[in-house]
Amino acid sequence: MRRYAQRTAGMTASEIRALFSVASRPEVVSLAGGMPYLAALPLDSLSAEVGQLIAEDGLVALQYGSAQGIPELREQICEIMALEGISAHPDDVVVTVGSQMALDMVTRIFCDPGDVVLAEGPSYVGALGSFAAYQAQVVHVTMDEHGLVPSALREALASVAASGRRVKFLYTIPNFQNPAGVTLAVERRAEVLEICAQHGVLVVEDNPYGLLGFDGQIYPALRSLDADNVVYLGSFSKTFASGLRVGWVLAPHAVREKLVLAAESATLCPPTMNQLMVSRYLATHDWKGQIKTYREAYRERRDAMLSALDQYMPAGCTWTKPDGGFYVWVTVPEGVNTKAMLPRAVTQRVAYASGTGFYADRLGSRQMRLSYCYPTPERIREGVRRLANVLGDELELYNTFGSMAGREVSGPESPSPNTA
Ligand SMILES: Cc1ncc(COP(=O)(O)O)c(C=O)c1O
Repeated sequence: MRRYAQRTAGMTASEIRALFSVASRPEVVSLAGGMPYLAALPLDSLSAEVGQLIAEDGLVALQYGSAQGIPELREQICEIMALEGISAHPDDVVVTVGSQMALDMVTRIFCDPGDVVLAEGPSYVGALGSFAAYQAQVVHVTMDEHGLVPSALREALASVAASGRRVKFLYTIPNFQNPAGVTLAVERRAEVLEICAQHGVLVVEDNPYGLLGFDGQIYPALRSLDADNVVYLGSFSKTFASGLRVGWVLAPHAVREKLVLAAESATLCPPTMNQLMVSRYLATHDWKGQIKTYREAYRERRDAMLSALDQYMPAGCTWTKPDGGFYVWVTVPEGVNTKAMLPRAVTQRVAYASGTGFYADRLGSRQMRLSYCYPTPERIREGVRRLANVLGDELELYNTFGSMAGREVSGPESPSPNTA
C-alpha cells in the first residue's frame, strides 16, 4: 500500500460501480445506472455504415489521428453546439474519449492538491471521482428546483476565501442535472456567470443531456453567454451511443492548447474509427430525428416513474420532476438511511443509487437517485412498487423502534450488493 502515490487515497470505487454486477441480474429492476436506451438506435443501418467505413476509409479509420480530433467531426460538433446558441470555431474544440476524459483533463490542468472546486450538491459521481483523484477539495453549492442558487454560490466563494483556499472552477451541469434532474433557470444563468467572473473563477459547464428536453426545449448554454470564462463539455453518449466514447471540450483558445497536450499524454489521440463513425452518422442519418426518438422514449419512462411514485411512495417522500434527462432525485423521511437500506432493497429485487455517492462530504443519506432511462415503463412501475414496499418496512421499523443509529452502515464506502 505504501508504494501507491498519495493521490490514490482519493480513488475509491463509486457506489454505483459496485452496484453494476447486482443490478444486471435479470430479476432485479435496476433504477440505479444511467445506461442510455440504445434499443432505440437503427442498428441495421449503423452496421452497414461501419462496414462501408472500413471498406472505403479503413486505412484512415484504423490509423492514429490528431490529438485534437478529426477536423470534420469538430466542424459538425460546432453545428450541434449552435443549437444551444454557441458560436465556436472548430479549432477550439478538442475531441475526447467521452466527456469523462474531459473532466479528467480539465481537473488535471487546473487543480493542484488542496485547490477547491465548487460543484452543485449533489453532483455527478464521475466528476467527484476525477476531483478526488487530483486531490482537489469539493465545496458543494446548494440547489433548489431551479438549479444552483446564486446567493449560495456567493456564500460558498466567501467562505472558501475566508479559509484561505483557492477556488479553481465551478463545475456545473445546468440542464437536467445528474443526479437531481433539475435545470438551472434561464434567469439565473447570467448571474451565475457574473459572480464567477467577478471572483476570477472559471466555469466548467458539463452538458450531456442538453438536447434531451422532453418538450424539445433547448436552453441557452452558459458558454453562449460567456465565451471567455466557460469551458464547455459535450458528449455523444446520451444523444447517440455511449459505447463509442466520443465527447468533446470547447475551451477558450489558451486553455485549448493545454488540453491538447493533456489529451496527447493520456491517449495520443481519440479513436479515429469511432470519430469517423460518429461523423458519418451525423452526415448520413437523421440524427435530430434520433434525438427526438430518444426524447419520446425517455419522456414515456419519466411519466411512468412519476406516476408510480405518486401511487406507491409512502407519505413524507418527495421527489424532483425532471423535464428532460434521465434522473429523479428522491428525499425520504427522517429515520431512513438510503445507503443502509440498499442491500435490503436489492433483496427485494430493486436497486437504486443512494444519495451519499453524489456528495464529496457524504451528505445524502436521506436521498436516492432513481434512473428511468433504461428499464421499460412496466419494469419502472414494478421497481417503484418494490422500492415503496421496502421503504414502508423501514419506516415501520423506525416508528416502532426509534433511532436507526445501530443500523447505520460503517466501514467500506461501497455497499456490498452481495449481502443481498
Ligand atoms: C453529468 C455527466 N457528465 C459526464 C458524463 C460522462 O459521459 P461520457 O459517457 O461522455 O463520458 C455523464 C455520464 O453519465 C454525466 O451524467
